[in-house]
Amino acid sequence: MTPAINIKNLTKDFPFGLGNLKLRAVDNLSLQIPDNQVFGLLGPNGSGKSTTIKVILGLLEPTAGECEIFGIPSRDVQSRQDVGFLPEAPYFYRYLTGFEMVKFFAKVCEVEKSTLIDRVNEVIAWVGLKEAANRRIGTYSKGMLQRIGLAQALVHNPRLIILDEPTAGVDPVGSAEISALILKLKEQGKTVLICSHLLAQIEDICDHVAILNRGKLILEGEVNDLVSRKGQRSMVIEGLSDEAAAEATRLLEQRGARVVGVEQPQSSLDRVFLEHVKKAESTRRDVDPKVETFGTSHQDETSGKEEK
Ligand SMILES: Nc1ncnc2c1ncn2[C@@H]1O[C@H](COP(=O)(O)OP(=O)(O)OP(=O)(O)O)[C@@H](O)[C@H]1O
Ligand SMILES: [Mg+2]
Repeated sequence: MTPAINIKNLTKDFPFGLGNLKLRAVDNLSLQIPDNQVFGLLGPNGSGKSTTIKVILGLLEPTAGECEIFGIPSRDVQSRQDVGFLPEAPYFYRYLTGFEMVKFFAKVCEVEKSTLIDRVNEVIAWVGLKEAANRRIGTYSKGMLQRIGLAQALVHNPRLIILDEPTAGVDPVGSAEISALILKLKEQGKTVLICSHLLAQIEDICDHVAILNRGKLILEGEVNDLVSRKGQRSMVIEGLSDEAAAEATRLLEQRGARVVGVEQPQSSLDRVFLEHVKKAESTRRDVDPKVETFGTSHQDETSGKEEK
């Protein structure tokens, strides 16, 4: 079966300083991204992730090697027809509203006229921007820009979605919503290539990851294989007194187990944050209709008003 993305011996150099110096951003990278996967491209800052994406999308010429999207070479415009892209630092025309911008992209991508407005509204709701859809993009916060960028990338229902740090600047509730959206896209048969430094999120949503370092592939594999500690089990026990903990340790050691540590259970900050923000949203009262705030609650049907 044709992979969604095929990268063959890709090298990308940038000219650097005076003379003939060059910076090797991607170094002989070969990678196949199968269809209908969520694939994480990871690596430290400057390791070549965004450069690789730009070559895949035909935005940069490779120095050597080649890339294909669904079997079509990246240098061919046709290869980008079924692709949605959220760049790492999206720039959008600031005087358009979010709605107008997504509608513009929908027209450029030739979304069916009869369904265009419904589709624009649908993707704006998916990214939690219903309330701010009629505000100008120049007034959006960093996380809101990422969200509208994501809506733009999805509006033409592409088969391959490439997201370069989609949750940079997005709050934890939004991040969790974007994760859920990515999993929904996979259910619909799409392929998602995602770059992110949020490894917990990557671990939750990706089937497969590749790690780059200084442009070179240093690790690749199924997430489950990479993180599983074969043969190890851990138990979480509540309500154990010190005395009972000592007794349990003794019994476990008699059975050949080694107790590595006994800790006070803590709830994760992510969970505490999500619980409290969701609760505050669901119990919001005393809302002044003249004062607009940006909330990401998907239950609230009200839409924002035009900025003056
Ligand atoms: N247009 C360019 N001109 C010169 N050098 C560039 C250019 N784009 C990227 N580079 C260099 O290529 C290397 C890889 O950059 P790239 O943006 O691909 O990294 P990245 O893995 O996406 O990093 P980050 O996690 O910070 O987004 C860096 O050293 C960067 O400075
Ligand atoms: Mg980058």
